[in-house]
Amino acid sequence: MEELRFDGRTAVVTGAGGNPGLGRAYALLLAQRGANVVVNDIGTVPEVPAYEGIASPEAVAEEIRAAGGKAVADGNDISTEAGAQALIATALDAFGGVDILVNNAALCIMAHFDVMTSRHLQRIIDTNLMGPVWTSRAAWPHMKAKGYGRIVNVGAAVFGGNMLMSAYGVSKGGLFMLSQALAVEGEPHGILANTVNPIGYSRMVPALQQDGAAMLKMLRDNFPAEASAPLVAYLAHEGCPVSGDCFDAASGKVSRTVVARNQGFTEPGHTVETIAERWPEVMATDDLTVIEKIPLAADQNEVRPYSEYAEG
Ligand SMILES: NC(=O)c1ccc[n+]([C@@H]2O[C@H](COP(=O)([O-])OP(=O)(O)OC[C@H]3O[C@@H](n4cnc5c(N)ncnc54)[C@H](O)[C@@H]3O)[C@@H](O)[C@H]2O)c1
Repeated sequence: MEELRFDGRTAVVTGAGGNPGLGRAYALLLAQRGANVVVNDIGTVPEVPAYEGIASPEAVAEEIRAAGGKAVADGNDISTEAGAQALIATALDAFGGVDILVNNAALCIMAHFDVMTSRHLQRIIDTNLMGPVWTSRAAWPHMKAKGYGRIVNVGAAVFGGNMLMSAYGVSKGGLFMLSQALAVEGEPHGILANTVNPIGYSRMVPALQQDGAAMLKMLRDNFPAEASAPLVAYLAHEGCPVSGDCFDAASGKVSRTVVARNQGFTEPGHTVETIAERWPEVMATDDLTVIEKIPLAADQNEVRPYSEYAEG
């Protein structure tokens, strides 16, 4: 098969300054395949002091340039609207546009739901969920004007719920829906949005694991950060065949995560007792239908015009 390339495309990868780091792996692969890359990273995560070293977007951009690629560094904080706009401005100034946005920056703090401080909880949502909202909104008008865009939101395999990760799980679950929403909104404009849930050894992994050298070695040996880069690149490519979908990549395995609904039961006028009696049908998993993207509404004339809403 012919090599899938990104010549002439500009990619913004957030949180790509860590080494080892998943964002760095995405930036290196896209650059190696010809993309201009904006390597974003805030550099430090003060809330998680156990991070080893600081992430350096300059170092990763330099690594790309040293290998013959095109890259610039960006140190904006994507958790704020102003930071996200400044990041996209970096792409416009350096390369004249933005075709690909990989929303990879995130932080994780592990604590029970009732123990985590409000400030930490807010910081996680602001970075992991609102960051991609702000960067996508900042890139959107440029992608829309060009009739082309690829957004890859980096989620996590948090479905099923993870102990000590309520805020992180909420943020990553939100990204799943963000991709679906942007896929529907982006369809008329040539903008595709998907989610990738990776697993890979990065600075985040030892920062969260207090001990367990054997576990860390196993992760380092078997889950290299680079392993999820081909899937991210595929979804960022012009030939990407899907939008609004969610995939998993780890240690050489690539798979799809879906939301499904069963047939349940239909009984008009049912009572509380009916539900108790027919509960097995509500819980059945032998008749699942995958919920695919909702097609565009053909006629939105009956929707209240946005201009009628108050700013509040
Ligand atoms: N490592 C894994 O196994 C794993 C598993 C599931 C999901 N993920 C996700 O993959 C992505 C990359 O994670 P990683 O493991 O490489 O972690 P990492 O901590 O090494 O990389 C994240 C980077 O984001 C940067 N960052 C944090 N807040 C930022 C902000 N406000 N603005 C700009 N940059 C900011 C950090 O400095 C860091 O370098 C994250 O979204 C993470 O949630 C990782």
